[in-house]
Amino acid sequence: MKYLNAFACALMMLTTAACSNPVQKAPEPAPWAYGAMASVANPHATAAAMAMLEQGGHAVDAAIAAHAVLGLVEPQSSGIGGGAFMVVHEHESGSLLFHDGRETAPAGATVDMFMRDGETMGFLSAWQSGTAVGVPGAIKLYEDTHRKYGKLPWAELFQPAIDLANEGFEVSPRMAAFLPRIAAVSRLDENPGAKEYFYPGGKPLLAGTLLKNPEYGATLKAVAEQGSRAFYTGQLAEAMAAAAQMEPAPGTLSTADIEAYTTVERDVACAPFRTFTICGASPPSSAAAPIMMMAIYDQLVGPSASHEDKVAAFVDAQRLAYADRDHYIADPDFVSVPLDGLLNAAYLTERAGQRFAPDEPAVQGDPSSYIGSGSASVFGNDSTDEIAGTSHLSIVDGDGNAVSMTATVEAPFGSSRWVGGFLLNNQMTDFARAYQPDTPPQANAIAPGKRPRSSMSPIVIFDEAGRLKMVTGSPGGNSIPAYVFKSMVAVLDWGMTPETAVAYPNIIARGDKVRVEIAMEEGKALANALKARGYNVEEREGENSGLHLILVEDGELKGAADPRREGTVGVLSTAP
Ligand code: DON
Repeated sequence: MKYLNAFACALMMLTTAACSNPVQKAPEPAPWAYGAMASVANPHATAAAMAMLEQGGHAVDAAIAAHAVLGLVEPQSSGIGGGAFMVVHEHESGSLLFHDGRETAPAGATVDMFMRDGETMGFLSAWQSGTAVGVPGAIKLYEDTHRKYGKLPWAELFQPAIDLANEGFEVSPRMAAFLPRIAAVSRLDENPGAKEYFYPGGKPLLAGTLLKNPEYGATLKAVAEQGSRAFYTGQLAEAMAAAAQMEPAPGTLSTADIEAYTTVERDVACAPFRTFTICGASPPSSAAAPIMMMAIYDQLVGPSASHEDKVAAFVDAQRLAYADRDHYIADPDFVSVPLDGLLNAAYLTERAGQRFAPDEPAVQGDPSSYIGSGSASVFGNDSTDEIAGTSHLSIVDGDGNAVSMTATVEAPFGSSRWVGGFLLNNQMTDFARAYQPDTPPQANAIAPGKRPRSSMSPIVIFDEAGRLKMVTGSPGGNSIPAYVFKSMVAVLDWGMTPETAVAYPNIIARGDKVRVEIAMEEGKALANALKARGYNVEEREGENSGLHLILVEDGELKGAADPRREGTVGVLSTAP
């Protein structure tokens, strides 16, 4: 039994080399008296989550119901043709587990499958290729987590999405805004099924149009009635394999690959920040990166630091942790990820001491001496890139259980390949696509059955007594660790409310640039202050964060949804 008392684990990490997931029961928890809350990326999905919570459903029931709706109303971001990470906290036992529903590479995948004549395929062609499609994990994740935690009947979880698919919903401004732009670079307006659905009569859907998707309703009805086998075997599986094997750049995804899919239950990654314990999904997730950033940041800020000094520490903590993330994190079932070293308190202190000058390139550290034996770095350099197409939801139920879930089809509308009323992912482009035969493979190199590294970083934070403090996470590709780090540091160190924290300008410091969001006045001031300190600042009008945060404070739940997207927060002030 992989039980983890996150609090005990983080305390151990202060003194020992690594957290070894002690089997330890939480101290007797006080009865939960704070009600329930859901912060989700679309109002229809928030409503579905709240409907489950009102019936006394588990946070997992609410997450599944909400995500099934997101696949309908926000198909550009995530859905059942993609994958997801779910971190689940149980109030009663104090346990925290990571359920990995990431897509897997087909058995026919090869390390050089994105290479053409010695050159790496460009992102746009790779994105729209059949090769990019991995085995979807979301439905199996629903089933496995519902079996473990669910309180409501399985079929009920899908009813809000089925009703909405059959009765129709108004196309949201965000989805409508994508359609004309995406047609210029993708095959969404050409591929069978997708073309007719998103571009009826050859024109992109407009915001406010009533849109029905009975095909999706039928797919979910089959899953509601028969469970995941309706998805992973039979006609749907055959149709998914056929769509992935379609031109251009056909992939090898087969019905055998689809049928063989399993989720993985993993321990979480944790480290302390002052009196808090921050935990998140372990690799192939990148949640360890924002956790490292918090610890490094804490070493870099002195007690008398000004806000400007703090922002510089915020930038440098990112530069240090991103370099490590880019180099070391990948699927731990295929490569040895030195996670214990990266999260070791002594390594984090050493790493903070390696703070780069603003004009110095950021390179990875070496956690070898903190992992017992062997060398941590056997990997080549990696420049994996990603773009928009993801959603995060944070939920706390009436019994104090919590879910932090980030789900993705990778780039907007995934591979644009349409089956059964949903889109297939292009998650294989999250692998290192470049293959150089003469250099050591990257940790995130492609292999059959492997899961591509993900930037998705679902997080759950506990206070000094091991009580739930915060649930957070965001979409945003490679910028996710930076966005999530901001949401944590802004609340826990800068004293901001959840709303102010998620709205605060994003700053992303990966590689040799520091990107600063200048859409708001404060962003411009931050950009100028960082330039004055010698950072290579790139100003951006907007950012792609979609933070959904729940904070337990002053005896109540306080939630926020990122104003950059369409999310809302639902609340039940007392338990049902
Ligand atoms: O798993 C990942 O890291 C990416 N597929 C996530 C992409 C993403 O977040 C795009 N966001 N808007």
